[in-house]
Amino acid sequence: MEILNILEIIEKKRDKKELTKKEIEYFIQGYTKGTIKDYQASALLMAIYLNGMTPEETTNLSIAMANSGEILDLNKEGKIFVDKHSTGGVGDKVSLILLPLVASLGVPVAKMSGRGLGFTGGTADKLESIPGYKTEISIEEFIKNIEKIGISMITQTGNLAPADKKIYSLRDSIACVESIPLIASSIMSKKIASGAQKIVLDVTVGDGAFMKNLQDAKKLSKTMIEIGKLAGRETVCILTNMDEPLGYAVGNNLEVIEAIKALNGQMPEDVKEVVLELGAYMLKLANLGDNIDQNKEKLLENIKNKKAIEKFKELVQNQGGDVSYIEDTSKFEKAKIVKEVKASKCGKLLNIPAKEIGKLACFLGAGRINKEDIIDNSVGIVLNKKVGDKVEKGETLAYIYTNDEKKAEKVCEDIEEVIEIGEENVNVKYIYEVLTE
Ligand code: URA
Repeated sequence: MEILNILEIIEKKRDKKELTKKEIEYFIQGYTKGTIKDYQASALLMAIYLNGMTPEETTNLSIAMANSGEILDLNKEGKIFVDKHSTGGVGDKVSLILLPLVASLGVPVAKMSGRGLGFTGGTADKLESIPGYKTEISIEEFIKNIEKIGISMITQTGNLAPADKKIYSLRDSIACVESIPLIASSIMSKKIASGAQKIVLDVTVGDGAFMKNLQDAKKLSKTMIEIGKLAGRETVCILTNMDEPLGYAVGNNLEVIEAIKALNGQMPEDVKEVVLELGAYMLKLANLGDNIDQNKEKLLENIKNKKAIEKFKELVQNQGGDVSYIEDTSKFEKAKIVKEVKASKCGKLLNIPAKEIGKLACFLGAGRINKEDIIDNSVGIVLNKKVGDKVEKGETLAYIYTNDEKKAEKVCEDIEEVIEIGEENVNVKYIYEVLTE
């Protein structure tokens, strides 16, 4: 019998050699159980980050991570489950809007969301900003909720892809997030474990995404589509723009409020395009309509007739949340200080760099700098303009929500510095491409 040893596995990857399926399984099982330590896993992850993985290694890693815990089989429910995941962004409240919306059209939703990672936000943190909402429930309750109302949104819970849960937070603390094999395996292991037969992925591209250019985003997409094929899960990737924050709000309560407004029909243009494109493909994969334009009409109709917001309320109530906050968003806790950042000149908005805005929101307390940091749900940034908009001198560019006067000053100064105003024409595209293979 071959005796495996973590030091030899690290050494192999350090020296740019290919790991076998057995070696990858040994690492994942050992790290999940705790026999392989954080410092050893850190070394291996950094070696993977620096030297990459072959498609075969990436697939083996994804499957080993999915197999580190239970794999749900939602098939037996007799319906087609379509899952959705984003590769991460700033101001990304798409899941909060899209998932109740498609559930209101009959697509069953079993969604396991992540927490904030690096400068990006996490849907689980946003949901928890609704008082009482429980993201950590048992798998039995998760399934029961889906049976009862057709949707449940939770965090990575119990025994679903536990290897990813550990690796995800370790990567965040050792600067190993932006890696194609690590992102692909993280996302696909969770998607395989949570049982959906079909998957729609929002692959974000640009300054506030982990993939900075279209070429890398396509490579990541093709890797995930390939893993999906091998695991028998049809996967569609939609490449979307993440150069500026999505919508206007960045920060937990602030984003939930923006999502509630969207479900009530007030959707910023970029949010609307992304929600409709992803939603139309989710309906298609669920066999609820092949025509993408007609699917978009169906989605818009369920916003108009309030079925989507009603489904969101049902979801919140079912998970223990206080629905009165959804009915009256003025109940959400507010930051004590609100400062305005004004434009120092007139012109057009050329750039609102998402990563800087995400980092500043984290600095205000909207995200975690260290794993154990506690998020302040009330703080963040609300933009008053989007790229391409005209601005007059003295007009408000953004509102800063904070509980700390000193932080407010710094963020105001930094935001003014990073937002670019000029005379050039800008052509903004929110959806770049849809990849199915
Ligand atoms: N989302 C995930 O679930 N994992 C990553 O690694 C990045 C984004």
